[in-house]
Amino acid sequence: MDSAPTNTSADGPVTAVIVVAAGSGQRLGYGMPKAKVPLGGDSILTHALRGVAAAGIAQQICVAIPPGDTELHALCEAFTKELKAERRSTPAAGQGVQLPVVTIVDGGATRAASVRAALAALLPATEAVLVHDAARALTPEAVFHRVSQALAAGAVAVIPVMPVVDTVKTVEPTTGDGAAIAPELVTGTAARETLRAVQTPQGFELGTLRRAHETAASLDAGQAAAVTDDAMLVELLGVPVHAVRGASQSLKITTPLDLIIAEGLLEGPLGVRWVEG
Ligand code: CTP
Ligand code: MG
Repeated sequence: MDSAPTNTSADGPVTAVIVVAAGSGQRLGYGMPKAKVPLGGDSILTHALRGVAAAGIAQQICVAIPPGDTELHALCEAFTKELKAERRSTPAAGQGVQLPVVTIVDGGATRAASVRAALAALLPATEAVLVHDAARALTPEAVFHRVSQALAAGAVAVIPVMPVVDTVKTVEPTTGDGAAIAPELVTGTAARETLRAVQTPQGFELGTLRRAHETAASLDAGQAAAVTDDAMLVELLGVPVHAVRGASQSLKITTPLDLIIAEGLLEGPLGVRWVEG
């Protein structure tokens, strides 16, 4: 069982959570940045920020939004007000725990560039950082706790993962006569029991993630496009990356089907937000 939410100031590293919300949401196809898309009466970003705050692990929440997006800026400010109002209405719940500082930065053209912009805006005392996709708006608090507990226990890098349910094969484009039969040819089958689907929040010792991103800044466009998470960059440094259990509720809202599933989770039969640890 997970421990109750704790602020890490007393018993762990000073922690910031970066929430990357600067993507355009092409695959969702709403014609607006995905962070702004409505989910259960609020925006995807608002849900994501509430989840981070509820976990109670962050001294700072640093949000990367599309440059010049005044609506998302206003959403972040409304969230900050909500945090303060909550504290005023239940002061006992927050005793001895600092409210997180909310910082808003302009994101970049790629996810990695958005992470870099946020890394540059972290408070000087920060020791550990969790990088979280706003698109994983319904991530349960327990996942934040597992990641931050692994960091407190000495991990330099830690990611939440899920077993893969499908059999996964590698393929190549079919050439010659085969092309008339089917577009691709199977080249192999991965050993499913060793495969894991990777989620966020991903946690790192701050200096290590900064080093990893400095290295990434010099990649060419093709290599940069292949970087889909932060742990990949840390792996390139040869640093061990630990894995803890994620949650299916942490699905990344990417396509219209994902949004339907997320809506369904919010309206679930139990009528509660967090249905799975
Ligand atoms: N992200 C970001 N800056 C970018 C690109 C992505 O901060 N330049 C963020 C997204 O806002 C999202 C997370 O990274 O929270 C994961 O990215 P993804 O799910 O791919 O979101 P989008 O890039 O917005 O979606 P798409 O790829 O369909 O356009
Ligand atoms: Mg994207």
